[in-house]
Amino acid sequence: MTFKAVSFSQASFKKAPIVSLQGQPVLLFNQQHLTLLEALEQKKVSTFSECRNGFCGQCKTKIISGSVSYITEPLVTLEADECLPCCCVPDTDIDLDLSVDGAELVGRAINTKQAQTCNT
Ligand code: FES
Repeated sequence: MTFKAVSFSQASFKKAPIVSLQGQPVLLFNQQHLTLLEALEQKKVSTFSECRNGFCGQCKTKIISGSVSYITEPLVTLEADECLPCCCVPDTDIDLDLSVDGAELVGRAINTKQAQTCNT
């Protein structure tokens, strides 16, 4: 019986970004989430949305730290520290200036150092 060596690229193990609200971890963004808005809605985070496609700007949210990539090009003018959750995904751990009121929070704080160790 022969075994083939299997190698995995670094990209295969990219760490799932932690999404926080005003410093409070709320969720891990994974491949089950299509957009940041959908992930926030799953956690019952209070957000505004209308078009859900980058046209209206109703979901415009301030980013405290982190960065996003757009699935579709936004048609709304954004400041450098703003994003449209309806059409973006987080590139890195991200902290948004949204209230945690009403959101389903993570039971205990996510240990980011431990998460990084597990995914390297
Ligand atoms: S809901 Fe319209 S731009 Fe996001």
